[in-house]
Amino acid sequence: MDDARLTPNQASPRHVAIIMDGNGRWANARGLPRTLGHRQGAEAVRRCVAGALELQIPFITLFGFSSENWRRSTREVEDLMSLLRRYLQSEIAEFHKNGIRLRVIGDRERLPQDIVRLIADAEQRTAENQALDLVIAISYGGRQEIAATARRLAEAVAAGELDPEDIDEDSFAAGLLTAGIPDPDLVIRTSGEQRLSNFLLWQSAYSELFFVDKLWPDFDKSDLEAAVAEFRRRERRYGAAAESL
Ligand code: IPE
Ligand code: IPE
Ligand code: MG
Repeated sequence: MDDARLTPNQASPRHVAIIMDGNGRWANARGLPRTLGHRQGAEAVRRCVAGALELQIPFITLFGFSSENWRRSTREVEDLMSLLRRYLQSEIAEFHKNGIRLRVIGDRERLPQDIVRLIADAEQRTAENQALDLVIAISYGGRQEIAATARRLAEAVAAGELDPEDIDEDSFAAGLLTAGIPDPDLVIRTSGEQRLSNFLLWQSAYSELFFVDKLWPDFDKSDLEAAVAEFRRRERRYGAAAESL
């Protein structure tokens, strides 16, 4: 571990990851269908991306749909997929204009084919952009990601292409969907729930966690700013003794 990581934490986070929770409750509280909560949630995504650009956060990861969310009703899953489709169609030009690089992590095999194509196009089109790396986790599960990586490494060992001795933290991380993306410094979850729900399990080993009661559709730039300010007050130790800092 390099010494830079042991300094008291006044720096801004390089990577903020957000579990966007509470769309359903937001809609319920207004007597509206859950879909409208998701639609409002997409507006919060726009504000959040604009906020990240303004605050010059280099990496943002948004948890949009978990591996376990496939268990929801067909109707809700379809609504979420059409929202994602429309979101990709309507935002990509704007992303590109603003220098945003889009990447999607998760199991694409379960996604509708046209969405897979939209994602591939968007990733390709924005690949050289540098203002902000926006990662969207769709059909994503941390355990599934870790298991798939272990399986690929095991296959490489079985094929005689990899020595088990060469499997370490770095080579394992290089096999994850987030290869090349720094670990999140800060993980925010909205809606008052205090759990990770299978999000970035490997990558969040030393992330600072920040829980906010607001429901995702109400989240705005000031909430992002408040989370970053709180992060800057925290002291990260990575297992070292406090007095050594
Ligand atoms: C988050 O909101 C969006 C997704 C998980 C797709 P929810 O849909 O989980 O909303 P609540 O938790 O039921 O309020
Ligand atoms: C986590 O929220 C997944 C996303 C925000 C996309 P859930 O609403 O699915 O999580 P649980 O079921 O409350 O743990
Ligand atoms: Mg939820």
